[in-house]
Amino acid sequence: MIAASLFFQRTNFTDAMYIVAFSLFIYGMSGLTGPRTAVRGNKIAAVGMAIAVVATLIQPHVLSGSSTPWLIALGLVLGTAVGIPAARNVRMTAMPQMVALFNGVGGGAVAIIAWVEYRHHFRTGLSDWRLKAEIPTLFAAIVGSISFWGSNIAFGKLQEILPGRPIKLPLQVVINLGLFVIALASAIVLAAGTHSQALFILGILVTAALLGNMVVLPIGGADMPVVISLLNAFTGLSAAATGIALNNTAMIVAGMIVGASGTILTNLMAKAMNRSVPAIVAGGFGGAVAAPAAGALDRGPVRSTSAQDVAIQLSYARQVVVAPGYGMAVAQAQHAVRELERALEAKGVEVKFAIHPVAGRMPGHMNVLLAEADVPYDLLKEMDEINPEFSRTDVTLVIGANDVTNPAAKNEPGSPIYGMPILEVDKSGSVIVLKRSMASGFAGIDNPLFYDPKTAMLFGDAKQSVSDITSEVQAL
Ligand code: TAP
Repeated sequence: MIAASLFFQRTNFTDAMYIVAFSLFIYGMSGLTGPRTAVRGNKIAAVGMAIAVVATLIQPHVLSGSSTPWLIALGLVLGTAVGIPAARNVRMTAMPQMVALFNGVGGGAVAIIAWVEYRHHFRTGLSDWRLKAEIPTLFAAIVGSISFWGSNIAFGKLQEILPGRPIKLPLQVVINLGLFVIALASAIVLAAGTHSQALFILGILVTAALLGNMVVLPIGGADMPVVISLLNAFTGLSAAATGIALNNTAMIVAGMIVGASGTILTNLMAKAMNRSVPAIVAGGFGGAVAAPAAGALDRGPVRSTSAQDVAIQLSYARQVVVAPGYGMAVAQAQHAVRELERALEAKGVEVKFAIHPVAGRMPGHMNVLLAEADVPYDLLKEMDEINPEFSRTDVTLVIGANDVTNPAAKNEPGSPIYGMPILEVDKSGSVIVLKRSMASGFAGIDNPLFYDPKTAMLFGDAKQSVSDITSEVQAL
């Protein structure tokens, strides 16, 4: 028994467990590249994380001290009791704010570890530790604190606890720069050795907290998913820095994976929106924007249609493409859409789904919703694959999508979304748009597609409209 316990606590065994865990992280992440393998990939990575946690807990120095095992057990129980029901019950449309909250907790944990490390080493002497671990600890304190507070603001905006519009102070950039310089200067003074160490580390955490608030408040609510992805990358890097400070390989590897993947995701999202990351962080875009009145830009009349007419058009089509967007998520219309797809296929119509990379409000939003409704994966076509198909498509059914179909991105150089790649639905034979009004989408701009003579609008909640169309198709 003792021999077995000693074996499990050997560094080599822990390292071997970590290597298994990292392999599972990376293998699991490779599964996230496609909807078919994503759920399995997530589970594999979660098993990897469980192994890393166990490998860390069985190390002798972790469980030493009379209160430590109980505190760790309490943390595990509390985290599980809060995390599992929260993740199970969250609505798909609330997923971005949940990610913000979870990410914030990670950043907060890193900042607290940095503080605790300082408190510990004030007592035991800083000299030895200082050489090995002080710089990563200071980095973790600053970036972790920014991440925690920034993520909280992002959560508040998405949850509509805070106003979604950009909130800016006069001289905001100067204030932010000032806070950054204070945090950095305090870190340098602390690292150089000062008599007021306890005060300085607290000062650094508080200044970084203010900076986290100040950086995210001026950004519009609709840009929050990109900001969350960026803060997620920050949390990863700060966790990796903490791993260096604590000499924990698992934290270094997991932190770097989060840092790298968060950075790549941020860039991909910004590219798909044709915005630069600095422009997003500079703020001022995508808050609550007043919807332009119908025909405000004198684009001509809008043609509206009925569920019955749409059903006839769809039933006699050879190929129909469904272009879903944020409105499908809001209406929770995905199951109704699946029913419509079945009804059309029963009539011999070929149905495909056009997936824009930033349709909805989070990466993979449409894939997740359609997968939940059991839409076969091979019907989901990425933007580059479906765009050449539109000219061969008889009818495109735009369900709650707006910006991702807006031809202004190609044709109007003055448009805020000019250059953003779009689903070229305007190339299909005819277009039917399902939405409730002429209101704009996330970018707050008018959509010339709605005034195109080959477009007809079916006004109403997407779920109700799709169900009505399906009933009419089945009755034909
Ligand atoms: P949006 O352009 O936001 O348009 C969604 C449309 O859905 C609205 O015009 C709205 O019109 C309609 N809608 C809302 N509720 C509805 C309901 N219950 N029934 C029917 N329609 C409803 O969506 P999109 O085309 O998916 O584009 C996404 C936008 O978000 C892009 O601009 C993108 O850059 C941005 N964005 C995306 C992400 C990611 S990662 N996906 C991250 C940040 C920003 P009505 O109010 O008239 O119904």
